[in-house]
Amino acid sequence: MSGSNILDTEKIRRDFPILDVEVREGVPLVYLDSAATSHTPNIVCECIEEYYKKINSNIHRGTHKLSMDATDAYEEAHDKMVEFVGGSDREEMIFTKSTTESINLVAQSWGLRELEEGDVIILTEMEHHASLVTWQQIGKRTGATVKYIKIDDSGKLDMEHAKEIIDKDVRMMSLVHVSNVLGTVNPVKELSKMVHENGGLVLADGAQAAPSMPIDVKELDVDFYAFSGHKMAGPTGIGCLYGKEEILGVMEPFMYGGEMIRKVTFDSSSWNDLPWKFEAGTPPICQGIALARAADYLEKIGLDKIWRHDNELSEYTMKSLLEFEGAEIYGPPIGEERGGLVSFNLEVPHAHDIASILDDYGIATRAGEHCTHPLHRKLGISGTVRASYYLYNTMEEVDKLIAGIEEIKKIFE
Ligand SMILES: Cc1ncc(COP(=O)(O)O)c(C=O)c1O
Repeated sequence: MSGSNILDTEKIRRDFPILDVEVREGVPLVYLDSAATSHTPNIVCECIEEYYKKINSNIHRGTHKLSMDATDAYEEAHDKMVEFVGGSDREEMIFTKSTTESINLVAQSWGLRELEEGDVIILTEMEHHASLVTWQQIGKRTGATVKYIKIDDSGKLDMEHAKEIIDKDVRMMSLVHVSNVLGTVNPVKELSKMVHENGGLVLADGAQAAPSMPIDVKELDVDFYAFSGHKMAGPTGIGCLYGKEEILGVMEPFMYGGEMIRKVTFDSSSWNDLPWKFEAGTPPICQGIALARAADYLEKIGLDKIWRHDNELSEYTMKSLLEFEGAEIYGPPIGEERGGLVSFNLEVPHAHDIASILDDYGIATRAGEHCTHPLHRKLGISGTVRASYYLYNTMEEVDKLIAGIEEIKKIFE
């Protein structure tokens, strides 16, 4: 199978046995839904198997060999993941369940305590519900006002509007790094500078960025960076929150229980060191260790190459889709930077029907509002079909998508 000119997809595909699955007899899988959940290479599956066969046990409180081995591997996984996003120390890397939980951790732990009436939280019109609903609810509970940076016709942030609404009242900006619908890559660094100059903090939602582009939290100058394991060749049930040590250090715990305490009496408790202060109870031990293995795997292939490969497939998809009369593509036009995903509509039928007919051909896409209801209202549409790409996808798979759409056009004409 021919990939882009950038990655050896034939070799990479051999690492992902699921890609050989037939969704129905004689119908091979064409998986174009990695923005929802990506697949897991052999090396990560083997890591999970190895963990349960060789070192499975609880961490940090065991004096036996297995517990010590699991503890070492879990702690080293934090080192790996903080290095993966360009942070400095283990103290800055908290393992959570997902991007959603990472954002909720900051919102509840920092937001509920720090925000009050008169304060402003900045979001963007393209936020995923993980950020939008979370901060909206924190706004309601604290009296802080939520303001949204508008998007322009090409699906990019209106920076003039950003300048208008970012002022001294801003305490937090939570923005998506790469949009899961538009593919837009937001100017996180530029916006961070504006917010920091006004004394606020910045959280970037990297769910769609961390899997496929090199991330440097210091270069982006964000205070928090959230992402999920299951979108970056890792297992489900594991997410990451990078946070600057000086901020995490003064934040209250998110959840209470075992692991996160230093000393407990009947009347009071004190908290463990970072990052364990934020990891109450038995954490996702195996998942964390396997995620670190996934990060190694991606780095070995090269995140810059994955980014360019995904881009190339997106651009090829856009060019091919535009051949269809009435096809509508959302987000930055061809030639501009975008993530490895393309959301689109045809004149008919509805996005849900397109995706379910594509499934008949074995092509897995996603249809709906992709956890961005307000963005879809803004665009005046009730859903889109999203094809999303990762390191194992090929040009031939894009051709299959386009051939599927040709069939759909024929049926509905
Ligand atoms: C941009 C963005 N943010 C947040 C999330 C939520 O991720 P999770 O469901 O892993 O918490 C997603 C998932 O699709 C996403 O695309």
